[in-house]
Amino acid sequence: MRGVLSFLAGDVVPATSVIGLQWGDEAKGKIVDLLTERHDIVVRYQGGNNAGHTVKFGGHTYKLSLLPTGILHSHVKSVIAPGVVVNPMAVLKELDGLAAGGQDCSSRLLISDRAHVICPWHMLEEAALEKSRGASAIGTTMRGIGTCYRDKVGRSHAIRVGDLLCRDQFAAKVREIVPFKQKLLNALDPDCEQMDTEKIISEYSAATDRIRDMVIDTTPFLLDALDQNKWLLFEGAQGSLLDVDHGTFPYVTSSNSSGCGLHNGSGVPERAIVEMIGVAKAYTTRVGGGPFPSELENEVGQRIRVAGNEFGTVTGRPRRCGWFDAVATRYSARISGVDSIAIALLDVLSGFEEVFVCEAYEINGQRTQNLPSRCEDLAAAKPILKRVPGWKEDITGITNFDDLPQSAQEYCRSIEAMVGRPLKFVSVGPDRCQTIRMF
Ligand code: GDP
Ligand code: IMO
Ligand code: MG
Repeated sequence: MRGVLSFLAGDVVPATSVIGLQWGDEAKGKIVDLLTERHDIVVRYQGGNNAGHTVKFGGHTYKLSLLPTGILHSHVKSVIAPGVVVNPMAVLKELDGLAAGGQDCSSRLLISDRAHVICPWHMLEEAALEKSRGASAIGTTMRGIGTCYRDKVGRSHAIRVGDLLCRDQFAAKVREIVPFKQKLLNALDPDCEQMDTEKIISEYSAATDRIRDMVIDTTPFLLDALDQNKWLLFEGAQGSLLDVDHGTFPYVTSSNSSGCGLHNGSGVPERAIVEMIGVAKAYTTRVGGGPFPSELENEVGQRIRVAGNEFGTVTGRPRRCGWFDAVATRYSARISGVDSIAIALLDVLSGFEEVFVCEAYEINGQRTQNLPSRCEDLAAAKPILKRVPGWKEDITGITNFDDLPQSAQEYCRSIEAMVGRPLKFVSVGPDRCQTIRMF
């Protein structure tokens, strides 16, 4: 509806966004890659190198973390927008990895001078904070994401990509910040690493020399691109349930990883988006701590983990697995206002006698279809499961929805009905060609 009205109004050009509807790793990278062909620019607008997106095509597997998935396409400009937190070493490591594989992508990348820089003290502080939480640790990726966002909002000790460009100004900031942070770190953990200020300055300056030409103010670049009728694709990282404001706080990431983060992270108004696609797995996974009502801490969960190869791209941690949670996914679809959904990894459920969908929670004896705002209530939620017959067939070669086994079709249709948004894609394997298009 949004798309039709916008086109009739004649005031926007095609801009699409892809976001995760669960706790991350929904196969956003695969869906973004599918859509990239018809776009000119792909934009990452939140998160950092905590993300891990795997893309497969042409017999190759690519693993991306901070770089937008569009980087794999030579006709596309990839943009790291203001809302991303950037570790310059991580940018170079990824670019070098791609170059070693024969793809020199540096001329396709643009990095916002407004984006904030992850520095060594962010990782050290995160390690100390996580250690101090003991059993209630968030289970972060240890990439300095939350501590960098905290300094951004706090302002006093923040460094932006633009600050890196002037070596003297950058060095002055580091010389001011390091003693303060070291005092804090020593108090948190007497055994903590002692930072070498001059080494940090020289390492970051050397990295800056390699990214200097990529740094621009991406905001007018994106707004001008819209005016010039270019096609823009926005790639969400993490998932809506990890959103710092709307997710399962405090077991979340530190950015707005639902659709709500698109405008503030990119500088492009949300009304310019013609279609927002929400991606969900056919079951649920979660990495790190926090409540997970439909979790299967048994051999069924283990079977899904093995069949879906559910081990983190970034940290290699085994992902927690459970049945599809329609309550949580519907909530995500509603807060982000997604227009359609993609169901991924449907093939992983092949061979189960029966599969289940969590259609409601029971919390303190009360049935609800709303995601509670308090993490303690979510932890107390018992899943109310709906049984759906399974299917035995291998579905990894199917490209037409009508060719799926009847029960697999019914499973997808019941998810569609419970989430309340139309199906756009069904993914039946990791490769680009293992995709059912519903249009
Ligand atoms: P993202 O973070 O949302 O981009 O997702 P990840 O890439 O971290 O995790 C999704 C994983 O599932 C990757 O290893 C993909 O290669 C893989 N994958 C994507 N779609 C499918 C699918 O339909 N079936 C199977 N079996 N694997 C898939
Ligand atoms: P993609 O883009 C899954 C999780 C971490 C941890 C919490 C906070 O691949 O879907 P952070 O390091 O961000 O402060 O950690 O968020 N997390 C993810 N889980 N997929 C991701 O990204 C994630 N990025 C962060 O495991 O629980
Ligand atoms: Mg991932």
